[in-house]
Amino acid sequence: MKKMSGNELREAYLQFFAEKKGHLRLPSASLIPENDPTLLMVGAGMAPFKAYFTGKVKPPRGRITTSQRCVRTGDIENVGRTARHQTYFEMLGNFSFGDYFKKEAIPWSWEFLTEVLELPKDKLWASIYPKDTEAEELWKAQPGFDPTHIVKLEDNFWEIGPGPCGPDTEIFIDLGEERGCGSPTCGVGCDCDRYLEIWNNVFTQFDRTEEGTYNDLEHKNIDTGMGLERIASVMQGVKNNFETDLLFPIIEYASKVSGVQYGADAETDISLKVIADHARSMTIMIMDGILPSNEGRGYVLRRILRRAVRHGRMLGIKDKFLEGAVDAVCDIYADASDFEALGQKKEYIKKVIALEEDRFSATLEQGIELLDGYMAETKAAGSKVLSGELGFKLYDTFGFPWELTEEILHENDMELDKEAFDKEMQAQRDRARAARAENERYAIPDLQGIDTAALKVDLSAREGKVVAIWKDGALVDELQDGDEAGIILDVTPFYAEGGGQVGDKGVLVTEFGRIQAVNAKKLPDGTVYHECYVEEGQLKVGDKVEIKVDQNVKLASARNHTATHLLQAALKRVVGQQVNQAGSSVNADRLRFDFTNFEPVSAQQLADVEELVNREILKGTDVVIEHMSKDEATGKGAMALFGEKYGDVVRVVSVPGFSMELCGGSHVTNVGQIGLFKIISETGVAAGVRRIEAITGQAALDYAFGKMKVVAEAAAKLKCHEEDVIARVDDVLAQSKDMQQQLAAIHAEQAKADAAALGDRVQSVGAFSVIAARVAANDMDDLRSMADMTCDKLDTGVVVLAAVNEAEGKVSLVVKASKAAVAAGAHAGKVIKEAAKLVGGGGGGRPDMAQAGGKNPAGAEDALAKAVEILASQSK
Ligand code: ALA
Repeated sequence: MKKMSGNELREAYLQFFAEKKGHLRLPSASLIPENDPTLLMVGAGMAPFKAYFTGKVKPPRGRITTSQRCVRTGDIENVGRTARHQTYFEMLGNFSFGDYFKKEAIPWSWEFLTEVLELPKDKLWASIYPKDTEAEELWKAQPGFDPTHIVKLEDNFWEIGPGPCGPDTEIFIDLGEERGCGSPTCGVGCDCDRYLEIWNNVFTQFDRTEEGTYNDLEHKNIDTGMGLERIASVMQGVKNNFETDLLFPIIEYASKVSGVQYGADAETDISLKVIADHARSMTIMIMDGILPSNEGRGYVLRRILRRAVRHGRMLGIKDKFLEGAVDAVCDIYADASDFEALGQKKEYIKKVIALEEDRFSATLEQGIELLDGYMAETKAAGSKVLSGELGFKLYDTFGFPWELTEEILHENDMELDKEAFDKEMQAQRDRARAARAENERYAIPDLQGIDTAALKVDLSAREGKVVAIWKDGALVDELQDGDEAGIILDVTPFYAEGGGQVGDKGVLVTEFGRIQAVNAKKLPDGTVYHECYVEEGQLKVGDKVEIKVDQNVKLASARNHTATHLLQAALKRVVGQQVNQAGSSVNADRLRFDFTNFEPVSAQQLADVEELVNREILKGTDVVIEHMSKDEATGKGAMALFGEKYGDVVRVVSVPGFSMELCGGSHVTNVGQIGLFKIISETGVAAGVRRIEAITGQAALDYAFGKMKVVAEAAAKLKCHEEDVIARVDDVLAQSKDMQQQLAAIHAEQAKADAAALGDRVQSVGAFSVIAARVAANDMDDLRSMADMTCDKLDTGVVVLAAVNEAEGKVSLVVKASKAAVAAGAHAGKVIKEAAKLVGGGGGGRPDMAQAGGKNPAGAEDALAKAVEILASQSK
């Protein structure tokens, strides 16, 4: 078998697929995934191509080949303990996006392995998905492949989170009995080192959603992955990936600085391997633009770096040592294609690592010492579980990473009470939140020592220098990731909060850090400062920063500010000159304008104002900003705020021909940029003060489109064109009114019929002709009119009706007595008083008419009988 270096192998693979098999050779993508929030870091060769697999984006060619940088940290604790676990690796891959499929992919894998690498055919094995007979036949057809070397495995299915996935065939090499576990069942798929998986061919035909459903992809694809380090270990005849030329030089370096021989002891070998793997990972992560932080990728980097430092200590290395490891890593890739950036960024990478290593070393020593003590105490108390409280104390008071605590505990056959630890952590977060009231976070210290006169505001500035930093009310020299702080730059393009407008937001980028500037404010002397959050890395006084103002937010605020000026001018024209600004607040989402006016602005006036402003926007006039004396400005008719103090020279913002105001805010350069202006409310805020809220730009468009969607949905429901919605609604309303009238007529008819039917149930009670019956009626009105109608037909008649609403558990009673009956002694009010008691209610009324309600439907019949009984006694 021929020997090949890692760099030669990479080249041979890419050339084979590019030159012999028509693939487009692309450089590795960065470890930071582009446009893929589901991934923290690229962990497979296919990751950068997800959109090609799903068909969302068209690839530059149907077949592509790469050697992709990958990081996987799921099994980080296994690194160094097995032959193959690594956090960083390179994956060789050939990909087909709806181009070729199995019948090309399998033979090409075979050709590359047996003809280019010249691996012994009789040592190669393939596992397949049990139902994949096509793959099985293809393998059997490969020249020299032993057909008994096929293994069917149910878990031959490859996926990594949501995205393209599918069944696969894996290729293994038998490294010989001496590398095996000796078990009689040892074979492909065994955990031991004998059968090494070298290549995976995935037949990508599904797209897994976030929720876990598998949708068929429109076309079938090929995704393959061969770990460069693994195949290098085979080609170099070494026992594990760490002994290949892609890692061993780092082991040699660590061995030299520690004086610990590789191969002398299993435990120290683990540390040497961890250092080799981790040093390479961190170097390449930083090369790709990741900086240590407490979140996301930055945290993965920090954790890897800290583990490496700790293993250095375990080998007895007392001083900083990782910078030297970076040299070793850079040497490995000196001739590799795609790693040019490593050479260029070497010094930068070393600096990032050195800063972090310095910071962590102190913590580490102290932490380990404390943890040793805690472990001894815990063991002495007969427990193997370190309390969450102690674990948290290490983390919170001494900055010791909890994962490290957990790892050290595991190494000592102990564990952390993680649940209790998490509780402590949450409690701490809650406390911190409570303690840091919003306005105290950036409390301003004494800034007398700072020469603020030399500071500048320059809207075009893209670079500045850090002049002062403060944190928790005190000046500091530097910040670390996670810090919240106030920062002053020597020059800033940020608009600072004031004049009713919020301050600009943006990002400050330094060589070693990334800082979110969440707001800009002014000190009483006008100095602009930035409220910041250090997202990654660090920041020092004196650092140069690249300044990126969030232009979207800035422009959205500017739109609203210029629109406020147009609004004020339009209000004066439409509503009257008495309109004067009484307050204003502008941010990126909306504008709010308070003004003097004694009555609400009518709907028609608001519509006129809107139209006037929008007409002005359509004119596309340039906004003019000038500086002049206050008198000159007011002489020209510029509006000034009553009671506001202005300096000698004022800034005048005008939309020529329409508006002129003294103003310090940020504005669009041309009114056309406002796009669209829409008032969303007009309300009163105090006596004589009205408030208009309005939106512009994207917000106004969203608003308008939202309303249009409502019309479209209404049209769909009404089954008509959008233009006809109003006419259709009128039709439907008229129909509904008509139907209600018809329904009422039907009810009346029904009531008549019911009344007629009741006529048959007359009984003589003393002097009275009485009808006492239970009827169906919708409400008391129905019941009363039924009683009236029935009673009219009787001489000396008394009608007693009960209606029951079972669903609501209610009873209504009505008693109606004719004049003659009243003359003969009937008193409806008294009848109902007694009868109502039996339905759990009360009531009364006049001698001729009474009504009552009750809540006991079961008593309805008794109530009717009672009424008849009382009537009998009333008869003279
Ligand atoms: N994407 C497949 C893997 O990573 C090839 O194994």
